[in-house]
Order: sequence, then C-alpha cells, then structure tokens
Amino acid sequence: MERPCLSRRHALLIPATAAGLGGLAACGPEDEGFGTAEPLRADDGGIPLEEIPEDASTLVNFGGQQPFVLIVRGTGDDLTAYSGYCTHNGCALRQHEAELDCPCHGSRFDAETGEVLLGPATRQLPEVKVAIEDGTLRRVR
Ligand code: FES
Repeated sequence: MERPCLSRRHALLIPATAAGLGGLAACGPEDEGFGTAEPLRADDGGIPLEEIPEDASTLVNFGGQQPFVLIVRGTGDDLTAYSGYCTHNGCALRQHEAELDCPCHGSRFDAETGEVLLGPATRQLPEVKVAIEDGTLRRVR
C-alpha cells in the first residue's frame, strides 16, 4: 500500500535522519505533500496501526456511514481522531497537505487540530472515538 507523504509542517518536526530513513523516502514529485493521496482504507472496520504514519495527520476511510476520520498521530499509541466531515453542512473533507478543505462551500480546517481556518464553518471538527485492539485501530461507535 502506498502511504501518504508527511506534511511539510510535520516533516519539520522530525529529525532529518529519521525523515530520510522513513516516510519521506517514498514521496515522489507528483505526490508532494501530505494528503494528496487517497484516504487509507480500513478493511473490516479496522486498520493496522503500523499503516498510519507517525507524526502526521491521515484521513482514514473506515467504511459504513460517516466513514472518514482524521487520525492525528504522534508516536506509538499517541493519537487523536476527528470527524472527516465539515461542521458547516456535513460534506466530506479532502486533505490537502496540512489542511482539510471542504469542496461544498470552501471551509478549511487545520489537519492537526481540527480548528477552523476559514469559514463559513465556525465549529472545529469534533473528536471521534477510536480504539487500538491487538495492533489494529478501530472506530468506536
Ligand atoms: S459544507 Fe463545508 S463549507 Fe459548507
């Protein structure tokens, strides 16, 4: 599975040696920046934690209703999950580097904190419950 590249913001947070050995190595010029790839898919409602990049934000498609979830992962089990849907009127968001863009009316959200960067949305993305079970990340309903 092809992994998304790290954002420029996050790439600055990790040592150059780690970036050279890790996630940035797979980035090509046409795939510059975080989130230009499609969301990762969580088959059977779960995704191995090892497939989610550390020190990055990644959209994951968990399937079912409201499938898109933004996973903001530090290192190891340190992660927070946010809804992948716009708080203005519920459109699915698209990730573009360190931001989530709404294709419906143009709102933008910070892909690390879920905060609104540009309206008409006024509320930040709500947190979503997830759990790690036997090394697999699952959405909790
Ligand atoms: S639904 Fe996202 S800006 Fe309106």
